[in-house]
Amino acid sequence: MKILILEDAAAAAERAAEIIAAQVTAKPGSVLGLATGGTMEAVYERLIALHRAGSASFAGASSFNLDEYVGLAGDHPCSYRRYMAEKLFDQIDIAPGAAHLPMGEAADPEAEAARYEAAIVAAGDIDLQLLGLGLNGHIGFNEPTSSLTSITRLKTLERSTREANSRYFPDGDEPPRLAITMGIGTIMRAREVLLVATGAAKARAVAQVIEGPVSARWPGSVLQMHRHATLVLDRAAASELELIDYYLDVHPE
Ligand code: PGA
Repeated sequence: MKILILEDAAAAAERAAEIIAAQVTAKPGSVLGLATGGTMEAVYERLIALHRAGSASFAGASSFNLDEYVGLAGDHPCSYRRYMAEKLFDQIDIAPGAAHLPMGEAADPEAEAARYEAAIVAAGDIDLQLLGLGLNGHIGFNEPTSSLTSITRLKTLERSTREANSRYFPDGDEPPRLAITMGIGTIMRAREVLLVATGAAKARAVAQVIEGPVSARWPGSVLQMHRHATLVLDRAAASELELIDYYLDVHPE
């Protein structure tokens, strides 16, 4: 794993955006794996700025998002489809129809999960998969005890995940209990993965993922088995790493 520790969250977001821009520049037809959440908002702001400066075009790229809530149509204000439209797709030049998310409102969510997995395979799998990290160590919505070889399927969200995400839901509404998520096996097939975690609240999960045992208890720890994983952290998220001095020595920022 390549562990990059940046001074603060803004610098981490900037670095992550630069890595994505470099990917689409080197390979304009890249298949990107995209993520949602608070951490990604800053990454996408920086990516839009790079696009506007002429440093990143998505005209030839396609994308697959990690996950979507079951039961929310794409035009629902709390759907990830809407999040992605507002925070990224409407502000860059990705072709309409090239940006994919699971259809949360599908009548048969299990069939939709299978269709989505097949679409990723048909696209030749993902070149660069962007990942956030849950407080419980989840990647995508692969909650603790997810099979480390799972493919796209339905998952029941853990309480800490629903609490963390309730900030996106208007007063009184709760996040759905179920989501369609790429599996850990799906994510591991990506040729490169880029995980971004910032803030002190993530420090425990970050330490488990990087320095703990590979375990379904902390699903992100599976990235220790990936050949090309980059983890971009800020100082706060890196604060519980035992070997922090080593990581800073290898990649001084
Ligand atoms: P966050 O979510 O960026 O909102 O903390 C990350 C995640 O749950 O994957």
